[in-house]
Amino acid sequence: MQFNCEIRLPKFEVKMLQIEQNVSLKNFNTFGVEANARYFVEINHEDDLTELFMDPQWQQVQRLVLGGGSNVLLINDFDGLVIRMNIRGFEHRIQHEDVFVEAGAGEVWNDLVNFCVDRNYAGLENLSLIPGSVGASPIQNIGAYGVELKDVFGSCKAFEIATGAFKTFTKEDCRFDYRESIFKTQLKGQYIIVSVKFHLSLIPHINLKYGAIEQELANRHITAPTIKDVSQVVSHIRVSKLPDPSTIGNAGSFFKNPVITADEFHPLLEKFPTIVHYPADNDHVKLAAGWLIEQCGWKGKTVGHTGTWKNQALVLVNHGGATGIEVYTFSSQIIDSVYTKFGVLLQREVNIIN
Ligand code: FAD
Ligand code: EPU
Repeated sequence: MQFNCEIRLPKFEVKMLQIEQNVSLKNFNTFGVEANARYFVEINHEDDLTELFMDPQWQQVQRLVLGGGSNVLLINDFDGLVIRMNIRGFEHRIQHEDVFVEAGAGEVWNDLVNFCVDRNYAGLENLSLIPGSVGASPIQNIGAYGVELKDVFGSCKAFEIATGAFKTFTKEDCRFDYRESIFKTQLKGQYIIVSVKFHLSLIPHINLKYGAIEQELANRHITAPTIKDVSQVVSHIRVSKLPDPSTIGNAGSFFKNPVITADEFHPLLEKFPTIVHYPADNDHVKLAAGWLIEQCGWKGKTVGHTGTWKNQALVLVNHGGATGIEVYTFSSQIIDSVYTKFGVLLQREVNIIN
């Protein structure tokens, strides 16, 4: 039996828990909207959470957990406590061809991907370049280019706010679905994820389900792709389609791709024969929300300080100076027009914070 263990731990730091007041969140949300937090605390170690919630006042106030802020829209100032997750560290262990990697919630997701791809730990390569933190990855079961977090998820450790206990959640416990998990539904707001374990492999299972990957590999004359090739190609496709939040505010896809029943789909297909769709399961069809929005004439449109991205209508952007309410109102206009034309109700994927 082969058993290797290598650990990379964060630098040891002794820091008092500091609660700041009236902190601007502009640099803590990728939409770049202005909003202030009444209280703000940074969590560098899981013990910080125990220390924080020893004071009962924090049980009573409204709370917002933030990682990279790449999937939130802040509508107003936040009249409560923002808990910014900064727990760092990777641990990895190889057993036969299996690789187990554990990462702190505050690690940057793409740093984890690079850490694994560099060592030929296969499984995360299709999820390259997704913004945000490791701790948020289970919240909406992040997914891209034919892979979802649930495909590589081992377990996660989370702090229960009401009791101060740490609990481990298995894949089954998390009830992952398309852009869904138990942390967005039954357990919303009750747990803070402190670390996530991934089950990867030394044997690559190259996933080329997403047509654009194969196309780009062909353009590069790559016939036997490695996981590094896949990671690079996915990153290239993403950069060509999606705006970079460091230059133009956005939170990726603003809406989910709607999943409708086969019965609802047939009349739509008859009326709109070019409607972009994919099989979801035996009885359901997933529609491309970007196509629906583009057909309503919104692609690349600017309205005030906001609009949709020129290369991807599903992405709402802040052209500079947009407020959260402005983006939200614009998103409502899109929902209304898609519903009027197609009878399909778009759901927001981005977390709206009031
Ligand atoms: P945040 O925005 O900080 O938080 C998101 C939600 O998770 C909030 O409700 C927050 O309270 C909660 N949360 C965060 N951390 C924790 C924690 N430790 N414990 C408990 N709750 C927590 N997503 C995809 O799935 N696929 C994509 O391809 C994709 N592409 C994107 C492209 C761009 C350009 C952008 C800007 C976003 C994209 N996203 C994508 C959305 C986003 O990157 C993911 O949802 C990501 O997981 C959010 O991470 P975050 O740390 O920024 O979370
Ligand atoms: N399309 C259009 N017009 C547009 C955009 C898309 O017609 O403006 C059509 C095209 O036919 C295109 C199809 O929609 O082929 C699908 O578009 P794309 O490949 O860009 O993917 P998506 O369905 O729009 C989803 C995820 C993305 C993820 C990509 C790649 C959701 C809500 N979004 O987008 O995730 O990166 O697939 O797998 O499921 C995110 O969640 O923030 C995100 C960016």
